[in-house]
Amino acid sequence: MPHATVTLAHEADFAGWRSATRSLAGRHTPPADITWRIAIDTESAALPAPDPAAARFTVPRAIMDLAAIMVQSALPDRFALAYTLVYDHVMGVPTGEDAADRMAGTKEDVITQTRQLRDEIRRALPSHDGTTPYQGRVDTLDLVPESNARFLTLQRSFAPWQLDMPDRTLRWTGQEMLCETPGQAPQPLDPTSLPPPALPMVPDLDIARITSLRAVALAAKTCLICPMAAHATQTVFGEGREAARMMFVGEQPGDIEDRAGRPFVGPAGQLFDRALLEAGIGRDDTYVTNTVKHFKFRRTPTRRIHEKAGPAEIAACAPWLAAERRIIRPAVVVMLGVTAASALLGRAVTISRERSRIIPMGDGSDGLVTVHPSYLLRLPDEAARTREYDRFVNDLRLAAGRLAPAVT
Ligand code: URA
Repeated sequence: MPHATVTLAHEADFAGWRSATRSLAGRHTPPADITWRIAIDTESAALPAPDPAAARFTVPRAIMDLAAIMVQSALPDRFALAYTLVYDHVMGVPTGEDAADRMAGTKEDVITQTRQLRDEIRRALPSHDGTTPYQGRVDTLDLVPESNARFLTLQRSFAPWQLDMPDRTLRWTGQEMLCETPGQAPQPLDPTSLPPPALPMVPDLDIARITSLRAVALAAKTCLICPMAAHATQTVFGEGREAARMMFVGEQPGDIEDRAGRPFVGPAGQLFDRALLEAGIGRDDTYVTNTVKHFKFRRTPTRRIHEKAGPAEIAACAPWLAAERRIIRPAVVVMLGVTAASALLGRAVTISRERSRIIPMGDGSDGLVTVHPSYLLRLPDEAARTREYDRFVNDLRLAAGRLAPAVT
């Protein structure tokens, strides 16, 4: 097999690693046949071209989480190590004991150092008034500080900062993230390419310990975990009965929900309401929420166009959704569309394959995957709309049927 060289855009280019891994592991390229390098400038980054012949595969969330932690370690072979993890999974072989031990140790180091770096940043920040750029220094670390760039940006409320390292400087200008290496032009660093952080990003807040839904909702209103929060009008948290036995999970608020601060109140919400009524379900008896709590969009001169939430936003919002489920403890969770289904099931989902059947959720609740109401709105012809709408109502009835008391 020919040797592959992957040139990643920067020291913590998780998005580039993931894309290369998808192609190379799909072609069963052994770890030893790959050289992982970091580009000297953004233009020289080079990933393998997507290969239509490569096998498609899914990787459990736990493996991707560990790979993300490896990528933010400072190990020289961190990308190779993360690749080995995925490759072994694809090939169905256990990861060797030495590599597994190294990974476990690295995970601990990265978490410890992330905590230390954040503590240092928090200690140093009060002396900065927000007008002078914060300037920090990091000399030796077991992690690449890039992975904490978003944390720093949030702590600084998007005001400029810079972090000096022995060989490079990471700088947030207030507009963009740059990596500066002596003697070279500053290179832009795409914050969305960074790995999800090793620790949750809401400062000093352990969401898993909050016990009331109202408190979780309040905390979520101040959430700045991901950059979407800076652009959306507000956090759109779930709403409904705390004692609901049925929970609906959509994708993310749309334009109207973003302005109203409530889930499913726009066109998709109206269709959803109609279907609920037809299925004999009172919306007030349920809890309705989204996988992602902020509206993600692209601005045109006249409109804000919905953009699909990506893995980073889904991961950032996961603690909020987990808290909603933990507190409400619904008997049935209806996943509206692929974003909700893959986020809650922790794997890639094809709606046509998985809809309309009861899936045990691991916490004792029943899951049911169905289409997203916006899908029904997008269908081009009347006949398909009617047929698909009826299937959707049937799915809701099926979910509601799980709540009926057992007949003896
Ligand atoms: N689509 C969603 O997934 N959620 C909403 O709240 C609105 C539209």
